[in-house]
Amino acid sequence: MVSNLQEQMKVQKMNIEERMSKIGKKVAIGSGKGGVGKSVVTSLIASYLAKQGKTVGILDLDITGPSIPMMFGTNEKPIGGSSGIMPVVTERGIKIMSMSLLLPNNEDAVIWRGPMISGAVSQFLADIIWDELDYLLFDLPPGTSDVQLTLMQSIKLDGFLVVTSPQILAATIVKKAISMAEELNVKILGVVENMSYALCPDCGKIINVFGNGEVNKMGVPIVGKIPIDPKISKLCDEGKIEEYEIDLGGIYDILEGL
Ligand SMILES: Nc1ncnc2c1ncn2[C@@H]1O[C@H](COP(=O)(O)OP(=O)(O)O)[C@@H](O)[C@H]1O
Ligand SMILES: [Mg+2]
Repeated sequence: MVSNLQEQMKVQKMNIEERMSKIGKKVAIGSGKGGVGKSVVTSLIASYLAKQGKTVGILDLDITGPSIPMMFGTNEKPIGGSSGIMPVVTERGIKIMSMSLLLPNNEDAVIWRGPMISGAVSQFLADIIWDELDYLLFDLPPGTSDVQLTLMQSIKLDGFLVVTSPQILAATIVKKAISMAEELNVKILGVVENMSYALCPDCGKIINVFGNGEVNKMGVPIVGKIPIDPKISKLCDEGKIEEYEIDLGGIYDILEGL
């Protein structure tokens, strides 16, 4: 029994190594906080990379609160076989995998304890047939929990992007994410400031909704700024996030340089 389990773990580890060897760069996107826009940022970066001609996948690791398929407007059921599970492909060719695609009803709640969630992360890493990709982005759940630990212990990430909104409170969240990444030996690439500013619809003036500059004090560079824009939430609700136009050249350059 024990040796059987050990054998299974060994096979899983080999599968993870084999799958990940075909991926160019593996980047996690996270934050200590929920609702700051991790999934929006992941989706926008993936869309931008795809527009530049890169092959991209997103693994939605928010097992209990998945939102990536909804943002891309897909609820297709993935096809599985003895060699693994095929990701679903979005309109612009981004490959995605999420717990919500595997549930009989995508509104079903996943109420699991930590070990089961860790198990799901390992299975995703071992079983999804991404094939060759330039980039695989990991959309993390909030905080520093089993998912983050399992991911960072199972594969060698090329980097970690921290998402925050420019509130004073958000700085402590950045600090937490940084100390976890440091502990697990993952390179912090920078902070993406979401809901960073608003544009006045009448005069085009930039309005700093949450104030300015708090995350700068953390000594981590801000690599991208995304405005608070009703178009973003509308496109999320409509499943058309790929259509949002934004220049993320700064993030692109950093990812290309990895
Ligand atoms: N920059 C933004 N402008 C407008 N709405 C946003 C923005 N970022 C996020 N939202 C809204 O907030 C919701 C939560 O964002 P989400 O990315 O799911 O957060 P998280 O993944 O951090 O929990 C989204 O569904 C979207 O409607
Ligand atoms: Mg999310």
